[in-house]
Amino acid sequence: MKEISVVELKINPMTMIAGEWMLVTAGSEERGYNTMTASWGHLGSMWGHGGGLPTAVIYLRPQRYTTEFVDREEFFTLSVFPGEYKKALGYLGSHSGRDGDKVAAVGLTPEFADNTTWFREAKLVLVCRKLYKGTLEAEGFLDPTIVPDHYPKGDFHHMYVGEIVKVLVSEA
Ligand SMILES: Cc1cc2nc3c(=O)[nH]c(=O)nc-3n(C[C@H](O)[C@H](O)[C@H](O)COP(=O)(O)O)c2cc1C
Repeated sequence: MKEISVVELKINPMTMIAGEWMLVTAGSEERGYNTMTASWGHLGSMWGHGGGLPTAVIYLRPQRYTTEFVDREEFFTLSVFPGEYKKALGYLGSHSGRDGDKVAAVGLTPEFADNTTWFREAKLVLVCRKLYKGTLEAEGFLDPTIVPDHYPKGDFHHMYVGEIVKVLVSEA
C-alpha cells in the first residue's frame, strides 16, 4: 500500500461506509487485536486550528469484543475492501472474536505496524488516533422513534472520534 494525503482521497463516504462497509480494528501483534464490521460512521473535520483536523467517527455497541480493544488502545483503524471481500465482512460482522480466530476463518492478513493493525487485502486504510469517547444517551434523542427502534435493550453506542493520522491506498 502507499501513503497518500487526506486531501487526495477520492471517496464518497455515504456509499463507502453504508454500502461497502469497513472493518474497525484495534490492537497489535504483541497485545492482541480484534476486528469487526461497521457500517455506521462519519468522516469529516473537527477541532484543530486554522482548519479542522481530519476526523473519523465510529459507533460501537458496548457488548462488542472490539470495543474492549478500542477502549484500551491509542489508535484504531478503518479498512475498506474491494467488493470480493463482502462475504468475509459479513462473517466478521456476525461472529465475535471472543469465540475464535475469525480473521483466520475468512483468510485475511493482518498487517501490524504503527502500533496498530490493519489488513493487507484492504483498498483503503485510515489510521486514527483517538481524540474523544462518548456514549449516546436516551435524553439526547430528538426523534423519539430511534430509541425503541434501535435500543430496546438500552445498549447505547459508544462514539469515538479519531484524528485520521495516516491514509493508505492499495497500489493495484
Ligand atoms: C454490515 C454490518 C455493519 C455493522 N455495523 C456495526 C456498527 O457500526 N457498530 C456496531 O457496534 N456493530 C456493527 N455491526 C455488528 C458487529 O460487526 C458484530 O456484532 C460483530 O460480530 C462484533 O464482533 P466482535 O465481538 O468480535 O467485536 C455490524 C455488522 C454488520 C454485518
